[in-house]
Amino acid sequence: MILITGGAGFIGSNFVLHLLNNEAVSEKILVLDNLTYAGNMSNLSAISSNANFNFEKCDINNALALKEIIRRYKPRAVIHFAAESHVDRSIKGPSKFIETNITGTFNLLEASYEYFLTLDNGTNNTKKSGAQITKKQFRFLHVSTDEVYGSLEPNEPGFSENHPYKPNSPYAASKASSDFLVRAWNKTYNLPTLISNCSNNFGPYQFPEKLIPLVILNAMDHHAIPIYGDGKQIRDWLYVEDHCRALFLILDKGVIGETYNIGGNCEFQNIELVKKICLILNDLLPLKDSAKITQYHELIQFIDDRPGHDKRYAVDNQKLKNAFSWKPRETLFSGLKKTVQWYIDNLDWVKSIKNNSYKSWMKENYSKSFKKGENESS
Ligand SMILES: NC(=O)c1ccc[n+]([C@@H]2O[C@H](COP(=O)([O-])OP(=O)(O)OC[C@H]3O[C@@H](n4cnc5c(N)ncnc54)[C@H](O)[C@@H]3O)[C@@H](O)[C@H]2O)c1
Repeated sequence: MILITGGAGFIGSNFVLHLLNNEAVSEKILVLDNLTYAGNMSNLSAISSNANFNFEKCDINNALALKEIIRRYKPRAVIHFAAESHVDRSIKGPSKFIETNITGTFNLLEASYEYFLTLDNGTNNTKKSGAQITKKQFRFLHVSTDEVYGSLEPNEPGFSENHPYKPNSPYAASKASSDFLVRAWNKTYNLPTLISNCSNNFGPYQFPEKLIPLVILNAMDHHAIPIYGDGKQIRDWLYVEDHCRALFLILDKGVIGETYNIGGNCEFQNIELVKKICLILNDLLPLKDSAKITQYHELIQFIDDRPGHDKRYAVDNQKLKNAFSWKPRETLFSGLKKTVQWYIDNLDWVKSIKNNSYKSWMKENYSKSFKKGENESS
C-alpha cells in the first residue's frame, strides 16, 4: 500500500494515474485528500473502479484522523503532495498556507513516525507485530518546490541541492519550513525521508488559476490574458508526467535523507510561453471569421506585477540525471501541445471546475487589472 496525500490535486492525480497505468504497480494505492477547491475526484475517475484504488477524505490538519488512517492501512510509503499551492492565494491569505503546509506536514510526520516505530526491524518477529513491512522498506517522500530557493540573477547557475534557501513568498516560505521539518525528522528520529524540489509543472488536470491553464481557458473564452509586470519572469518548465516518472524513481531508488532537484532544463520567459500557447491555439482551435480577434495573442494584457515576484527560477537536475538516468521525455512544445489539446477535449472537467468559488477568486484577483467587461465571466 502506498499512501498519497493530495492525490486528487494536479500533480498528485497525475502521479496516481501514472502509477496505476504506467508503472504496472500491483499494490494498493490510498489517496488521502481533503478535497479543497484544488482537489477534484473527477481527476481520478479513470481509475476509481480499479480494485487497487482507495480513497479517504481527510484533512492533514486533523492529527488524530491521520494517525488512525495510517495505522489502519499500514502503508509501505507515504508520498506527500497535499498543500496549499498557489502563490497569489498565499499573498492574499497566508494563514491557510502556514496551517496546511507547515502544521499539516508536521502532523503527517508525527503520524508516520508513530507508525514507523511499530514496524518490524527486519528480524523474525514480523508475525508478532502483525506488520507486513519492515522499517527498512518504509519511505516518506516529501514533494516540494524550487521556489524555496528564491530568485536567480540572469547569469547564475541553476539551483543545485546545496543552494541556500531564500523563499520570497508566503507559499515558498511555508514549503521551505516543511522541507526543514522533513529533514529534521530524518536527522533526529531516523525516519527514512526523501525530499524532491521541482520546477514549474504543466499538463492535464491543472487548476486554472495557474498560468498555463489560465491562459488556455481565457483564450478559449476570448477573454483577456493577464500577464504580470513585463512578462519577463523566467521559469523552468516540466511536463507533469516527467515529474511523476522522476518521483517514482526517487521513491524506488533514492538514498534516504537525500534531496533531489527536478527540472526540465527548459527556461522560458512567461511572455514567450504565453505566445507559444497562443500559436498552438491558432492551430488546434482556429478562430472563426466572426471572432473579434484574428490571432489569440491579441488577448494579451499586461497587468500590475505580483508583489515580491521572483525574476528567475532554473534547476540544476544533474544529480537526478546521474543517479537514475532520468531525463524529460517532453519538450516545452510537445508538452504544451498535449496540454492545450487536453483542455480542448475536456470541457466538462473545465465546466465543473469553474464553480462560484473559482469565479469569485478570479474576480478578487484580477478584476481591478482589467477594463470593465473584459474578463467578467472568466
Ligand atoms: N504545481 C507545480 O508546478 C509544483 C511544482 C513543484 C512542486 N509542487 C508541489 O507539489 C505538490 C502538489 O502540487 P499541485 O500543483 O498538485 O497542487 P494542487 O493545489 O493542485 O493540489 C493540492 C491537493 O492537496 C489537497 N489538500 C490541500 N490542503 C489539504 C489538507 N489540509 N488536507 C488534505 N488535503 C489537502 C487538495 O485538495 C488538492 O487535492 C505541492 O506540495 C506543491 O508544493 C508543485
